[in-house]
Amino acid sequence: MADNTKGLADVVAASTAVSDIDGRAGRLFYRGYDIHDLAGHATFEETAHLLQRGKLPNRAELQAFGDELVAGRELGPLVSANVAEIAGKQKPMEALRSLVSLASADDPDRDSVAPEADLRKAARLTAQQPLLVARYHAARSGKGVPEADPSLSIAGNFLLQVAGHAPSAREAEIFDECLVLHADHTMNASTFAARVCAATLSDMHSAIVAAIGTLKGPLHGGANEQVMKTLESISPDGVAQAVRDKLAAGEKIMGFGHRVYKTEDPRATHLRRMSEELSGDDPKYYRMSKEMEEVVFETKGLYPNVDFYAASVYHYLGIPTDLFTAVFSISRMSGWTAHVIEQHADNRLIRPDSEYIGERDQKWKPIDER
Ligand code: COA
Repeated sequence: MADNTKGLADVVAASTAVSDIDGRAGRLFYRGYDIHDLAGHATFEETAHLLQRGKLPNRAELQAFGDELVAGRELGPLVSANVAEIAGKQKPMEALRSLVSLASADDPDRDSVAPEADLRKAARLTAQQPLLVARYHAARSGKGVPEADPSLSIAGNFLLQVAGHAPSAREAEIFDECLVLHADHTMNASTFAARVCAATLSDMHSAIVAAIGTLKGPLHGGANEQVMKTLESISPDGVAQAVRDKLAAGEKIMGFGHRVYKTEDPRATHLRRMSEELSGDDPKYYRMSKEMEEVVFETKGLYPNVDFYAASVYHYLGIPTDLFTAVFSISRMSGWTAHVIEQHADNRLIRPDSEYIGERDQKWKPIDER
């Protein structure tokens, strides 16, 4: 295999109308809409409708979709009966992998790959994911989950249910924008995993379980948690030195670099602004992040990706660090499910080839002669 195709770099693995990236210009589009026009304007609910149902909703469609999300939010008996035990034994992303798998048993459309069933499951999974994270966090903290506030969005209710107090209107808006920014991103590793699973005509929950397991890794969604750990582990006066030491030791700096973007990740532009706005009278992590960004660029020419400023933003919003990747999954659920719908609608098994690099012409020996 040529070195430049290792990791399938630049290989087109599917056709999609869900999202598009121009890596050279640093532009991202959801169904043709520029992320800079959606961020801060479209809500996460409108964005999920756009991704899953192919169009921005009008008022009536948004109302109907919102009602479907609220109706689909309730967790079924199998999930409810097991969340406490799982919370005691598994870390957040492991727990989500288990809980989404259990949720399929409670889903009335569990096995169907019919288009209408996929749309219903996409809405239910999008509505349930924030509640799964909140229920997990409450169970491990020995607390209950506050009732959802019908006047709040998915973003506002998540902050209410995880931080335990009603967010300010601005906090809810900022978190909503975070969800919009993370909603979809072409053929990223977890979406590809979901599509490979869906392309066997397996069901949507199975595809989402594959995606969650893939998002968990530190080279993908796990990077935002690692960014926060890095910020917490270095002294505010020693940022430049710590970055240089890590690079000299051959370590990667989490939250930097991207397979596709050759310039600034457009999502990072918004997240940097949000981090600055939220930093207020606690500017430590924002300032450290800015300095890290400068040093990494000077030393390696790398730009921050979506995970870099998301870390300080989530920190300022009061979200526990070990839930950062789970928060990513709340948003990306809207994109994953859109891709599963698209895959099922025009399917062909995804089965690439491999280059064999092992021994050849081996001679068989019975076990006692080996
Ligand atoms: N810190 C330091 N060096 C980095 C780096 C980082 N975050 N990201 C890439 N590089 C360097 C690699 O060491 C490599 O250098 P080399 O050619 O001298 O060996 C070169 O840049 C190419 O990196 P590679 O890992 O092969 O690129 P990729 O396209 O396979 O990987 C990422 C893309 C995102 C996985 C990679 O940039 C990375 O690991 N980033 C950190 C994890 C992260 O933030 N993930 C979230 C992505 S949204």
